Amino acid sequence: VAEIELGGKLLAWWDVSRRELPWRALAGRAPDPYAVWLSEIMLQQTTVASVTGYFGKFMSRWPNVEALARAPLEDVLAAWAGLGYYARARNLHACAGEVVRRHGGRFPQEPEALLGLPGVGPYTAAAIAAIAFNRPCVAQDGNVERVVSRLFAVEEPLPAAKGRIKAHTESFLSRQRPGDFAQALMDLGATVCTPRSPDCSRCPLAGNCRARADGAQTRFPVKGEKPA
Ligand code: ADE
Repeated sequence: VAEIELGGKLLAWWDVSRRELPWRALAGRAPDPYAVWLSEIMLQQTTVASVTGYFGKFMSRWPNVEALARAPLEDVLAAWAGLGYYARARNLHACAGEVVRRHGGRFPQEPEALLGLPGVGPYTAAAIAAIAFNRPCVAQDGNVERVVSRLFAVEEPLPAAKGRIKAHTESFLSRQRPGDFAQALMDLGATVCTPRSPDCSRCPLAGNCRARADGAQTRFPVKGEKPA
């Protein structure tokens, strides 16, 4: 498989098929790291459809990290009501405080530094580094694992296969456009390469997909035996 080809095809598809989501910059514009961080925290255990309204509400009320850091915690918790997993709201407020007091109001750009912030785990650190700062990081969630395990017909079961899937993703990651690449994989998994009925007729990578060549798309990702 020509890896450069794969990344190029994915990005060309995304340029015409990207979902317009409120936290995304307009095509070609620089993203707002605060908006990227806020959206990634909200999206941790919550769907895009549920997050959209909350994201807009937070951005209007607290348009930057200084404003959020200054807000009383009770106000942030009240505004979060309905999104669930309230530890996220406490961490959100604590993280805003750390960014202001320890980083001069600017989010760190490296995934290792982001990982130390409250509420930011490995997935979120990679997503922010890629989307906000164009670092060549793999933000590997269930969508990405499905797309890439199908593309390369990864027979090893999850969760053991995570490292192998990451290596496959890195093999075609765009070094020119890491942020677009990360979001393109998310969109492909969410809208085309879906769990039960992938729409391969709309997939830019269908011709390169080993699972599809075998007619075995829905066999991947292979899951480990559940304990009895
Ligand atoms: N899920 C997690 N992060 C996302 C993002 N930035 N866009 C769409 N879906 C996501």
